[in-house]
Amino acid sequence: MHIKKIFIVLGVSICAYGLSYCNPAKQEEKAETKEAPQMYQQSELAALMHEVHDLSAEWKQQLESGEPLTPVPDWVSQILSADATSPDELANGAFEPLAHEYLRQLEEMAKAEGDDRLKAYNTSIQTCISCHKIYCNGPIPKIKKLEI
Ligand code: HEC
Repeated sequence: MHIKKIFIVLGVSICAYGLSYCNPAKQEEKAETKEAPQMYQQSELAALMHEVHDLSAEWKQQLESGEPLTPVPDWVSQILSADATSPDELANGAFEPLAHEYLRQLEEMAKAEGDDRLKAYNTSIQTCISCHKIYCNGPIPKIKKLEI
């Protein structure tokens, strides 16, 4: 009985660890089996997410100081096609619809004027959080800092 409990606790903490880093264990597995031609330190999607974060931080700063917004770069839409750490997890779930939703909100923000820009921006950040609640809890506190 006790041993079973320990395993459950262990399992849960390993899962939490994996989630907070978005599955580093799986990345190691990939590297070891040498099936992947490249050995990623970080998946394409994870690297792209860091760019998306920096872009949002730029928009936040521009919104706060009333400056024109940096146009939505074309590369953002690559979140739909970039290789992820766990592609199987993303394949059949909410990832794709949420990614489309996110991209649509950025377009709305780009078209919006006045206070509507800020509203559209905050809505887009909520979509980051919605997607992360499902797939990747770790960065949520960091994403929340992008809210205005
Ligand atoms: C449609 C879903 C979705 C949206 C929208 C989304 N993310 Fe992500 N994000 C993910 C997934 C899935 C990963 C894990 C990627 C991987 O490990 O391959 C991730 C990873 C990350 C990471 C961690 C990268 C790493 O080093 O492991 C950060 C930071 C991040 N996202 C920030 C953001 C920010 C900021 C936004 C919005 C401005 C955002 N994300 C929008 C799904 C999403």
